[in-house]
Amino acid sequence: MSPAHVLVTGGATGIGLGITRLLLNKGMRVSVCSRRPEPLSAVEALGAETLTWDLVQPLGLIHKLTPLTHLVHCAGNDNNDAIGSWSMSGFQETMALHALATAMLMQEWAAQAPTGGCFVGVASTLGRRTAPGKAAYSAAKAAMLSICQSGALELAPKRLRVNAVLPGVVETEMTRAPRTPGADIGQQLTELAELHPLGRLGTPSEVAEAVAYLLEAQWTTGAELVVDGGLSL
Ligand SMILES: NC(=O)c1ccc[n+]([C@@H]2O[C@H](COP(=O)([O-])OP(=O)(O)OC[C@H]3O[C@@H](n4cnc5c(N)ncnc54)[C@H](OP(=O)(O)O)[C@@H]3O)[C@@H](O)[C@H]2O)c1
Repeated sequence: MSPAHVLVTGGATGIGLGITRLLLNKGMRVSVCSRRPEPLSAVEALGAETLTWDLVQPLGLIHKLTPLTHLVHCAGNDNNDAIGSWSMSGFQETMALHALATAMLMQEWAAQAPTGGCFVGVASTLGRRTAPGKAAYSAAKAAMLSICQSGALELAPKRLRVNAVLPGVVETEMTRAPRTPGADIGQQLTELAELHPLGRLGTPSEVAEAVAYLLEAQWTTGAELVVDGGLSL
């Protein structure tokens, strides 16, 4: 029997790279899509198949990858615009990547996925609450969670599953980028770590373990698995 084929969007860096590595180690066929060539080449060297794709326009991607068993939608951008700096383009890009792409990718994946297939959305604890500067990001992740719930319900009769993971703060390119102009990155990361009762940031591999669990858990659908060092408490 051929191995399960999984698409990891944004699977060449950060949390996505952790997911790609773990799923390759588990013997799955892994495809990765994102925009920049260098990270894609590096992940190809690990054994993944790659495709250059801008997920602001997700339609048609799945047709290039069928048959696809599972889909992990991890690609996303950050948005730290506080009120006064909100823009149509900023909201549109963030909503497109996290919310609209979730819906359109899920629809195209479900049209061809085999029984037992699973969609996992990499959401965030910020999909359930917010923080200063996080209006667009929190709204987009909340929409992603809601779309995953709808998908779980509507696809259950086809024996397809839809789940989400909600990471706390994980050290990646995204969290190392300055959140305010001129921010001291070391201090920014220390302050973010201190928000977590377990006293540190998460790692991509810790989120990857949660994703791998959801892909394999045949009686689990509609789950929102929080992996956040206690941040939500
Ligand atoms: N780090 C955290 O603390 C944290 C916490 C909770 C949730 N998350 C979520 O985890 C996911 C991964 O984030 P990360 O922290 O690992 O950051 P990251 O390393 O910056 O990963 C983001 C990935 O998304 C891809 N991407 C961005 N815009 C894209 C576009 N328009 N089309 C296609 N691909 C695009 C990027 O690749 P290219 O730029 O090459 O396209 C990159 O590989 C995101 O959805 C994020 O919201 C992160």
